Amino acid sequence: MCGIVGAIADRDVVPVLIDGLKRLEYRGYDSAGIAVIGDGEVRRVRRTGRVAEMEAAARADNVQATLGIGHTRWATHGGVTEANAHPHASHGVALVHNGIIENHEQQRERLQQLGYAFESQTDTEVIAHLIHHYLKDGLDLLAALQRAVKELHGAYALAVVSRKEPHRMVVARMGCPLLVGLGEGENFVASDVSAIVQATRRVIFLEEGDTAEITRAGVRVFGADDAPVERDEHLSDVSLASLELGPYRHFMQKEIHEQPRAIGDTLEAIIDANAFEPALFGRDGAQVLDGVEGVQILACGTSFYAGSVARYWIEAISGLPCSVEIASEYRYRQAVANPKQLVVTISQSGETLDTMEALKYAKSLGHDRTLSICNVPESAIPRASRLVFYTRAGAEIGVASTKAFTTQLVGLFALAATLAKLHGRLDAEREAAYIEDLRHLPGSVQHALNLEPQIALWAERFAPKHHALFLGRGVHYPIALEGALKLKEISYIHAEAYPAGELKHGPLALVDADMPVVVIAPKDGLLEKVKSNMQEVRARGGELFVFTDADSNFEASEGVHVIRTPRHVGVLSPIVHTIPVQLLAYHTALSRGTDVDKPRNLAKAVTVE
Ligand code: M6R
Repeated sequence: MCGIVGAIADRDVVPVLIDGLKRLEYRGYDSAGIAVIGDGEVRRVRRTGRVAEMEAAARADNVQATLGIGHTRWATHGGVTEANAHPHASHGVALVHNGIIENHEQQRERLQQLGYAFESQTDTEVIAHLIHHYLKDGLDLLAALQRAVKELHGAYALAVVSRKEPHRMVVARMGCPLLVGLGEGENFVASDVSAIVQATRRVIFLEEGDTAEITRAGVRVFGADDAPVERDEHLSDVSLASLELGPYRHFMQKEIHEQPRAIGDTLEAIIDANAFEPALFGRDGAQVLDGVEGVQILACGTSFYAGSVARYWIEAISGLPCSVEIASEYRYRQAVANPKQLVVTISQSGETLDTMEALKYAKSLGHDRTLSICNVPESAIPRASRLVFYTRAGAEIGVASTKAFTTQLVGLFALAATLAKLHGRLDAEREAAYIEDLRHLPGSVQHALNLEPQIALWAERFAPKHHALFLGRGVHYPIALEGALKLKEISYIHAEAYPAGELKHGPLALVDADMPVVVIAPKDGLLEKVKSNMQEVRARGGELFVFTDADSNFEASEGVHVIRTPRHVGVLSPIVHTIPVQLLAYHTALSRGTDVDKPRNLAKAVTVE
């Protein structure tokens, strides 16, 4: 939920830190700060609000240095105040932290007894004092960090500097991502590669329990037992262009419009293979998928809705039972394990703590067949899974998930078809037809995007509303859920989604002329049923906004507005019908003047409970 960046170089690193923080801001945007070492001192600049405010303060103070760390915060322990903003400091030591220290209260008590005074309400400040405590004992910065982290329970990515050791920074990782960037005569640390891509694309992903020392000349990594270890170097394929807005007003708009490309890239391996093969999910694909008797999907938020679509596909196409569960619920209930079940986690970021913990819990119950559908290479969740399907959406910066969702659906559809094939339920003709449908998918999505001007007009009518209902049936019900989530998340309009057939069991009581009702009504076997549900709304004076296919015979009438998506695309229809609800949310938020890419109270990667 927070972003970390650090740099050591023989040039001024403050612009590197600030540029990095701006790219990390999507991870948390309550406050921002930097700490640099210069002239034997730690200089800190911290501000509540956005990075730009902190940047202005750093400029005004003419802060420059060759070693520094920076942080963007999403508040957990302690309110949004300057005192709670990172970096935290203790007697010449400064550090930034992502994660949560569970035993911070005990540590705080102990450190207070040792004479330390606390300035903040954060869990992080205990780490600064703890490191200082061990420095006082005569340890150097690296050893003090290694000693301190052994006393911490919880999750952390840490970058630490000390005024007494201006030639290095030290870092540690447990439960939160942290990577080291390798430059020429300069090196970096960051919680994700976007922060440092302007300087280098050569990265080392630290592993759980690792610590490292970073100097200008090089990097030394140590494992959980503090012994030196080698970690592989990777070349990140994140490009600077993918992190820039280009001609768009918001990242969300850019990411909505990137979907034909993102889906095309995600499809590449399937189209190349011209078949649904276990190998699409990794080297062990055949071994893990063979003999699977059911599927358990675990995810949060939008990724959960992708899983909810997949349940319809998996059961209908492969005939295997499939359950979908919110990860934060699954991880705390006494679930019954079935080792023949495939556990599928879905996560854009690959870092969502609840999803990660649900996966760990499933494994502890004896689930060995694990697959992750993920957008961020080398992130924690795929690394903890036996199989991986990487969506190739590219960096998703807007807090509202868009291209990640539709590319997750592509991966999940491929999974449904692959399981069907393994179970003898997909003949060659149907397989070829599905691949052909996939081939046309980017084009159909582009057609749906072309509806933007019409949807923007609808959005103006939504903007003054306080509530909205979304309805769908069958495989499109999760798209209604996703539409409602998008709308509430970025426009702050209260929106709820129901299976259309459920309306009469309660929510119909909410319907009046002030309640816009959005209906996902494609030309599928349930259209007639959905039409009856729409009558129920109209009869109560409700205004309907219907997304239907170009070839359905559904007509607009008084109080019933219709936008036609492309011709019905069959089984892939939920992917195409996602586009209009994304655009509706985006344009409504635009009309309301909310901060589309950084909606209040939220952050992109939710690495806390
Ligand atoms: O990175 P993940 O896919 O695991 O994230 C899960 C949710 O936090 C995420 O989808 C969230 O609901 C989005 N902000 C919705 O747009």
